[in-house]
Amino acid sequence: MAQKNDEEVIRRAPLFTALDDASAATLRESMTQVKVSKGQTLFKEGDAGDRLFVVVEGKLKLGTSSGDGRENLLSILGPGDMFGELSLFDPGPRTATATAVTDARVLALANDQVIGWVTAHPQVSLQLLKRLARRLRRTNEVLADLVFADVPGRVAKAIMDLGERFGTKKDDGLHVNHELTQEELAQLVGASRETVNKALADFAGRGWVRLEPRAVVVLDYERLSKRGR
Ligand code: CMP
Repeated sequence: MAQKNDEEVIRRAPLFTALDDASAATLRESMTQVKVSKGQTLFKEGDAGDRLFVVVEGKLKLGTSSGDGRENLLSILGPGDMFGELSLFDPGPRTATATAVTDARVLALANDQVIGWVTAHPQVSLQLLKRLARRLRRTNEVLADLVFADVPGRVAKAIMDLGERFGTKKDDGLHVNHELTQEELAQLVGASRETVNKALADFAGRGWVRLEPRAVVVLDYERLSKRGR
């Protein structure tokens, strides 16, 4: 069963979406599985990058840190997400640190193999470009929000975004099991833990969300998404 689920997950990754079943199976065979435990670092910002990864199971965070030790989270990754390709296409050190937020399994493909696949299958490069373009679009949006939106607006948006990717609809609302600590949530939003907590408490007081450890249940999707717009 796990095997079948793995198949479905990796077929969503940009390296695989354009391939037929036989080519996808060949590509899968040339990838190696890496297991990381919760809290473990897969690679660090500044390391040499020799492979790219696709998440099969679990969640990872991509973060950068400032010279004085402050941390910023660029993204939370889940099943089907690809990462580690920047240091391949623009040779240089890793631009972020990848750390497991939960126990996780990823598949790795060596850089020279990626180049081989991209050269032999132009449609694979198109999918990779599409994914990179989407990420740039998102990054621009995050940048604009840092300038134009207030912290509650950014918190609302982050919850909606995590909800779209990791949420499960239930009778009482959208359960967003983000698995992040309050500190990590603050790093994702680019604000202090106190300000983010205040915004969350305010949303909870209005009945828009219910707060749970490492999870948020969205009770009023419409109001929350309006606040995040
Ligand atoms: P690489 O630089 O090899 O290692 C860190 C990875 O983080 C990078 O490749 C990208 O895959 C990913 N990454 C870097 N910046 C962002 C971003 N702004 N949003 C999402 N992912 C990113």
